[in-house]
Amino acid sequence: MRVSLFFAASAVAAATACGTGPTFPGTDAGSPLDIDAGPGTADGGDIYPHPAGWATVGGGSFHGDTAKRGLTVCTRCHGDDLTGDTAPVSCNECHESWRTNCTFCHGGKDNRSGAPPDDVTGRTDTAEVTVGAHTSHFGVPHKLSKPLACGACHPMHADALEPGHGVSGPAKVTVAGWDRSTASCSSVYCHGNFKGGNRANAPVWTKVDQGQAQCGTCHTIPPADGPSRPGKTHHSWKDCSECHGAGYSTSRVNQSTHMNNSVDIVVGLGWNSVNRSCTTSCHTKPQTWQ
Ligand code: HEC
Ligand code: HEC
Ligand code: HEC
Ligand code: HEC
Ligand code: HEC
Ligand code: HEC
Repeated sequence: MRVSLFFAASAVAAATACGTGPTFPGTDAGSPLDIDAGPGTADGGDIYPHPAGWATVGGGSFHGDTAKRGLTVCTRCHGDDLTGDTAPVSCNECHESWRTNCTFCHGGKDNRSGAPPDDVTGRTDTAEVTVGAHTSHFGVPHKLSKPLACGACHPMHADALEPGHGVSGPAKVTVAGWDRSTASCSSVYCHGNFKGGNRANAPVWTKVDQGQAQCGTCHTIPPADGPSRPGKTHHSWKDCSECHGAGYSTSRVNQSTHMNNSVDIVVGLGWNSVNRSCTTSCHTKPQTWQ
């Protein structure tokens, strides 16, 4: 019969949906444990019998620190769904609903979405590639757009045991031009790859709050295109809000329409995006934007 080393299981029960789960006490101590180098390695490199400290929170060899880095090392004995197999122990015994509680393994410091910080080893520094500019992309700090969905940059997951999730690092990133060695992306629509945008812009994910989200980085203010007369372009004729709508100025945007995959023009101007002309009463006849 199995003798449990744990008594405080209630501390980890009762999780709900991703993003709204309870706060789990952190086990951020990090672990020097090499999962292939535990003691008792009769078959040449196993983690069972589990190393001393497997049951001690913050103890250096804690099972949670290892599990957070990927579950395939556990499924072999504890079963594909980790409810017990050759190892007669289910993770659910102590961790209720853990599979949909994303902050069980990552995220939770800035919001409850599962996005770092923390990363899976407990790091919080935005200069770490695994942490980076996550929080910057969720709407609040720069007020540039609606919060981005995780799926804008990642394959998304509804369950920790979904195939392909959390198998091994680094995390899968689906953004155009993502280069982990420089931690930068290029040729992405959001940062300038659009007509009139700064197409050469290649923001660095790990340089947070260093000016990469300022007006003028992705497109100039105002852009240089549009009809012009000597010394004056159409874009600088009037306030930005006159043509782009309430909330826009040379230093502010309307978060709900900025960067939404189309240039937003107020309806009253009669803008036709196909032949790029407007029927506004500012002109005696319809004009084309060159
Ligand atoms: C007998 C009870 C018990 C069993 C069985 C158990 N755990 Fe744990 N686990 C705990 C306790 C207690 C903690 C510490 C929670 C805390 O920090 O308060 C913990 C922590 C963790 C953490 C870290 C969570 C965090 O907040 O950092 C992970 C990940 C984890 N366990 C994974 C697993 C997996 C995977 C299994 C099954 C293979 C498993 N556990 C089985 C009791 C258990
Ligand atoms: C080589 C097989 C094997 C692997 C791999 C394995 N385990 Fe286990 N584990 C066992 C067995 C067998 C038991 C039951 C021990 C007992 O009944 O006393 C167990 C028990 C446990 C327990 C309960 C300890 C207790 O005394 O209550 C936890 C927690 C646990 N494993 C976590 C994990 C985690 C997390 C992983 C992956 C990182 C993992 N195990 C990988 C074989 C394995
Ligand atoms: C703007 C793009 C972007 C968005 C949006 C985004 N991520 Fe990420 N994410 C990244 C990048 C880049 C990495 C670093 C990948 C690497 O380490 O190579 C990363 C890494 C991660 C990691 C791995 C951390 C680790 O410990 O290795 C997790 C987990 C993660 N993201 C979860 C999320 C979740 C959940 C959301 C939505 C709430 C989200 N991300 C939204 C770009 C993004
Ligand atoms: C048992 C731990 C664990 C749980 C629970 C967990 N993840 Fe992960 N997740 C990981 C690991 C490990 C990675 C790979 C990161 C690395 O190795 O750097 C990862 C990576 C990710 C990534 C990056 C994209 C990818 O596939 O590589 C996203 C997004 C993500 N997780 C979302 C979620 C969501 C959403 C949930 C809740 C439904 C969740 N995770 C629950 C461990 C976990
Ligand atoms: C007279 C009307 C008008 C004013 C005033 C105006 N815009 Fe525009 N803007 C437009 C039109 C029309 C387009 C769409 C052009 C196209 O699709 O080719 C546009 C497009 C844009 C674009 C998309 C990139 C581009 O160059 O096409 C940006 C960015 C932009 N405007 C920013 C601004 C800013 C910042 C201001 C205030 C300083 C401003 N606009 C003032 C009419 C205006
Ligand atoms: C991270 C890159 C980025 C930054 C920083 C940025 N913009 Fe934009 N901006 C865009 C994109 C993308 C568009 C949409 C262009 C398109 O789809 O053609 C846009 C369009 C606009 C438009 C046209 C109306 C609209 O929403 O379509 C205005 C006006 C504008 N931006 C003003 C600003 C101002 C003011 C700032 C500083 C507060 C700013 N932008 C900072 C990326 C950016």
